[in-house]
Amino acid sequence: MAGPRRAAGQPPAAAAERSGERARVAVTRALPDGPFRRLEGRAHAEVWRGEGPAPTAWLREACAGAAGLLATPADRVGDDLVVACPTLRVVSNLAVGTDNVDVAAMTRRKVLVGNTPGVLTAATADLAFALVLAASRRLIEARDAVLDGLWTAWDPAFMLGLELAGATMGIIGAGRIGMAVARRALAFDMRVLAWSRRGRPPAGVGVDGVEMVAMDRLLRESDVVSIHVALDASSAHLVGAAELALMKPTAVLVNTARGAVVDQEALFEALASGRIAAAGLDVVEHEPIDPSDPLLRLPNCIVVPHIGSATVATRTAMAELAVDNLLAGITGERLPSCVNPELYDA
Ligand code: DGY
Repeated sequence: MAGPRRAAGQPPAAAAERSGERARVAVTRALPDGPFRRLEGRAHAEVWRGEGPAPTAWLREACAGAAGLLATPADRVGDDLVVACPTLRVVSNLAVGTDNVDVAAMTRRKVLVGNTPGVLTAATADLAFALVLAASRRLIEARDAVLDGLWTAWDPAFMLGLELAGATMGIIGAGRIGMAVARRALAFDMRVLAWSRRGRPPAGVGVDGVEMVAMDRLLRESDVVSIHVALDASSAHLVGAAELALMKPTAVLVNTARGAVVDQEALFEALASGRIAAAGLDVVEHEPIDPSDPLLRLPNCIVVPHIGSATVATRTAMAELAVDNLLAGITGERLPSCVNPELYDA
């Protein structure tokens, strides 16, 4: 990585740090102790500790006069916030995805944006594979059957599901997480197909034994389709009614990326009509999902609350990296992981 370079329009070092005074930052969720103590050693942190996401009014107030903001995927960070809080120099997102941040607006206003790639790859791939197994082998349905007294005898036709060995896994998005899922699928003796916009994984990320194919072929041939693309204008509703119609009626869809990559109404129809067999979702179009949403009543759909990266080790590593990004941004250092590095070259 290149040595520290200042972003355009940023001071050589935070004036507050030079004067011995700690710069102010806003943090929209309590962080694990270790990274939080490190942050507090260098900055004065205003932390939202209430229920639910930080309210807009709190965010405006906490960011007024602040040099940095540490946000989560639950926060919308738009141009309006930066206009109202012109002292902000960095938005550090506690996630690899930055679809909750208007990155173009931040770049226009010379606000650096940081994210947390790499540290959550294994945890997210594990959760994706947990959903693959749970949806393929109907785990929640089977557990409910036990609770409902439907386990009356061993029955050769009861709760039959999809066998993974010999089946085809189709991975949409061949980045780090997609390829980590590919490695897990190969270990389960699956054939693995993958699609990505670029037609190949990034350098150093590819996995032997994965065949890159066109989207149509992936959808037609896969028994399990697992989604691993970032959400942006080109991936919104990437999987809609037309794509679901190409899938096998026995196929399982898993989404641990972002809910809006799938057209949720079309998915509901496909699951309710038996157009596809099952789905496992860590993400939905509007989070948190309303508990009365009909999707949650479908026996062939498992929904969990955006817990892909939710292990103690991974959430701590994400917080460490997010704090590194935040501290670098407020002191004029280069962010270890910056999504708008063009600000350094401007
Ligand atoms: C991310 O990092 O984008 C995840 O969705 C949060 O777990």
